[in-house]
Amino acid sequence: MLRSIQLKDANVVAEGYADAGQAHSVAAPLPFAIEYRGVTRRFKNRQGKGEMTAVSNVSIGIKAGEFVSLIGPSGCGKSTLLNMGAGLYAPSEGQVTLAGKPVRGPSQQVAFMLQKDLLMPWRSIQKNVELGMQIRGRGKAERAEVARALLARCHLKGFENHYPHQLSGGMRQRAALARTLAVEPDVLLMDEPFSALDAQTKMVLQQDLAQMLAAEGKTALMITHDLAEAIALSDRVFVMSERPGTIIEEITVDLPHRDNPIERRKQAGMNEYVAHLMELLKVGRDDHLG
Ligand SMILES: Nc1ncnc2c1ncn2[C@@H]1O[C@H](COP(=O)(O)OP(=O)(O)OP(=O)(O)O)[C@@H](O)[C@H]1O
Ligand SMILES: [Mg+2]
Repeated sequence: MLRSIQLKDANVVAEGYADAGQAHSVAAPLPFAIEYRGVTRRFKNRQGKGEMTAVSNVSIGIKAGEFVSLIGPSGCGKSTLLNMGAGLYAPSEGQVTLAGKPVRGPSQQVAFMLQKDLLMPWRSIQKNVELGMQIRGRGKAERAEVARALLARCHLKGFENHYPHQLSGGMRQRAALARTLAVEPDVLLMDEPFSALDAQTKMVLQQDLAQMLAAEGKTALMITHDLAEAIALSDRVFVMSERPGTIIEEITVDLPHRDNPIERRKQAGMNEYVAHLMELLKVGRDDHLG
């Protein structure tokens, strides 16, 4: 059965986890892996006159090990929220915390993955994956071994010495995933990581991502415009309004196989969730087309 909560009062930190029961039974609950509390972000207008509000009063808490997706119309402030999680800029109001500690800049606990792979064209795939570890001062032999193992897990064995331009888009995105995981982040922030890929490559990569994250218990916050992708991968989905973006609904995905999106896509309840998201986002409605 589809469970969703309409968040009329955005000050309420959303509850309603997939594994209901656990959330309330602990005496001293662990801090959220990542939490936005009353977060508003304003930007100066281009002309320098006045300000516009990109996101307004967003409160969401994501537990360690959860996979959460964020969907909403273009320009509603999704990337802005993610960038604040990555410490790229600060909220105008409110606070973002990682494991209870305020985010004050980029952190080693967080890895960021974008639509564009941003691999260094002059470094081999192996060296690209090693980069984050190198910056963190890990030894040569160790980082080479970790990178090789991760590339094998991402089905890129044999391509270690290739350069990014020698790989397909899907392979490059796999390499980007290996690089993201190489720095052993607690939290993965992903901004439309698969949107540039064809439908089949996308599903294979989603499968790999879901299995790896579930096996390692990592926390993920992903932005996507692909509604089925959000349902196939997530424990919960937050839906945002048009700009200034606020959270208008939280949906708990009560379907099995979070670690196996291909199986989850075959579940009878899948379509009901996607249809509900389409309704919320007014997909196909005349008023949406303006
Ligand atoms: N650094 C910035 N300076 C000024 N305005 C910005 C900046 N970053 C984002 N904005 C503005 O904030 C609003 C939200 O942008 P954002 O990129 O967060 O949207 P989004 O939800 O990620 O959209 P999309 O789905 O198209 O990627 C937009 O109006 C954008 O122009
Ligand atoms: Mg964006």
